Amino acid sequence: MQFDLDVDRRKFFASLGGAAAVAAMAHEARAEALEDYMAKQLDDPEQQDAAPEKFPTVAELEAQNSSRATRRGVGDVFTGRAGKVSKLEPMPAKPTLQDFFRLRFSTVNHVLQSANRAMKTGMTEEIVLACLLHDVSQSLIKVDHGWWGAQLFEPYVPEKVTFAIRYHQALRFYPDHQAGYEYPDLYKRMFGVDYEPPEHIQAAYKFARNHKWYMEPRLVTVNDLYAFEPGVTVELEKFTDIIGRHFKQPKEGLGHDNSPVAHMWRSMIIPDTPL
Ligand SMILES: [Fe+2]
Ligand SMILES: [Fe+2]
Repeated sequence: MQFDLDVDRRKFFASLGGAAAVAAMAHEARAEALEDYMAKQLDDPEQQDAAPEKFPTVAELEAQNSSRATRRGVGDVFTGRAGKVSKLEPMPAKPTLQDFFRLRFSTVNHVLQSANRAMKTGMTEEIVLACLLHDVSQSLIKVDHGWWGAQLFEPYVPEKVTFAIRYHQALRFYPDHQAGYEYPDLYKRMFGVDYEPPEHIQAAYKFARNHKWYMEPRLVTVNDLYAFEPGVTVELEKFTDIIGRHFKQPKEGLGHDNSPVAHMWRSMIIPDTPL
């Protein structure tokens, strides 16, 4: 079951102590608070308000950039909530994909929910795996996360999976009613109501739209849930077999296998290293 909630901006701001308090929050903290607010609304539908949300414009969002401590595209492992980073747990000597899920990846709940939906609706194992991995590169870097994510996983998963991860980034800006994907309100909120994808996104969309594997990234967007199923917690163990069958864990551990992308994994292992 999927839920869509309208978020009343005024009520949401009030719940956090007013517009000034919200403006002072780091982007990440605000996103988390919004997530939390939406989850609470699900528990108490009475709180839902019919008043339509007023989405920011591109210019309004750009005007906020000069007051940010970090760029919006920076990876989660390099930024902290409420202006401070936390002490990171050291990683095992030979880290596996599961260790990164446990100790470094952000967006974990979101990708678990997406993969769970793909599994429940009987999609292929490649799609389930692509859903499970589609956003976790945001721990390293957020801007162009589809390309970064595909590159990060390229040595370890089938090509169809990286195709799905790479192109979901472009496809999410283009509705496909037949496939069951509509433009999400979240993007009006994040990118601006009048946002137009840049040329490289338009070109990637055109390429993927005409590709024989179009449905791979499209189904990632179809499973890309922006709301939560109440009371449902998805454990990573649910996907152990699929990971085992399709993800080639290097015996030296991710980051230590001398692959062309080992440094990307290492950057998440030791993000406190100054140079
Ligand atoms: Fe994504
Ligand atoms: Fe996503």
